Amino acid sequence: MTAGRILTEASARLAAAGVDEPGLNAQWLLADAVGVERLRLLAEPDTPVPPAAREKFEKGLLLKEQGLPLAYILGWQDFRGLKIKVDKRVLVPRPETEELAGLAADFLRGRKGALSALDYGSGSGAIGLWLASEFPALGVAGVEKSARAVRCARENALTLGLAARVRFVRGESLSAVRGRFDVIVSNPPYIPTRVIPGLAPEVLSEPRVALDGGGDGLDVVRMLLRLSPSRLKKGGALLLELGEDQAGKVLASLPQDAWKDKRTFRDLRGVERFVFARKK
Ligand SMILES: C[S@@+](CC[C@H](N)C(=O)[O-])C[C@H]1O[C@@H](n2cnc3c(N)ncnc32)[C@H](O)[C@@H]1O
Repeated sequence: MTAGRILTEASARLAAAGVDEPGLNAQWLLADAVGVERLRLLAEPDTPVPPAAREKFEKGLLLKEQGLPLAYILGWQDFRGLKIKVDKRVLVPRPETEELAGLAADFLRGRKGALSALDYGSGSGAIGLWLASEFPALGVAGVEKSARAVRCARENALTLGLAARVRFVRGESLSAVRGRFDVIVSNPPYIPTRVIPGLAPEVLSEPRVALDGGGDGLDVVRMLLRLSPSRLKKGGALLLELGEDQAGKVLASLPQDAWKDKRTFRDLRGVERFVFARKK
């Protein structure tokens, strides 16, 4: 069978299973199984698909029909051009978090001297690793509660050749690291506990510790607000990704005597998503 025909049938199957973007998911799975670029499959729909590739594709398709995130099936997620290994140990990095990392980079570009960054709740390590790849002299620390996620992040650091400058440690608070940073960037768990059961099955297949932010979703955020002044250099920045309706509230809770240049940023969908503040 040709790639084009397989894609048509697979898209219909995924749509029937209620999968979002069925065509795109089918394309990624088939490109991975055949071992070619996705766009090449689209440009050359008459490409024959050998039986072994067909079998691999069929397995991936079944997993997708069952609601597994595409990135877990492929084993990786693109993060601002970096290929980040992901599996059930870690949250799949989201497009908003690529924007968060971009904001951290914008801030670091304006700083002088030996630069350092902290990725709090590092998961797969995507934010910290991308920042390290962007700034050749940047030192990066990642703190992460889940030991399994720390292992995944370290694997990514090794694969990407960044292990000399990026170290991931297990910890549940900012006191897990010493020293002061130019930027503390975090995409913490921020979903209120009561909301978790109603999340899409795909999201529920990700680690609960990566999602559950406690009663109002802000348990980890409160700890970060309390402790980050002692872990930032003068003029250093705290940058947080938050859930809808949380950023304004968190911004307002930052005391004037400790913080300056406080503001929020909207994500590409227009949601007030990120909080930025500099230590006085
Ligand atoms: C929303 S995920 C973000 C993962 C990754 N930074 C990303 O953006 O893809 C939150 C991460 O924080 C970790 N985490 C949860 N509670 C934590 C805590 N108290 N201290 C450190 N990490 C925590 C979770 O295990 C998870 O990896």
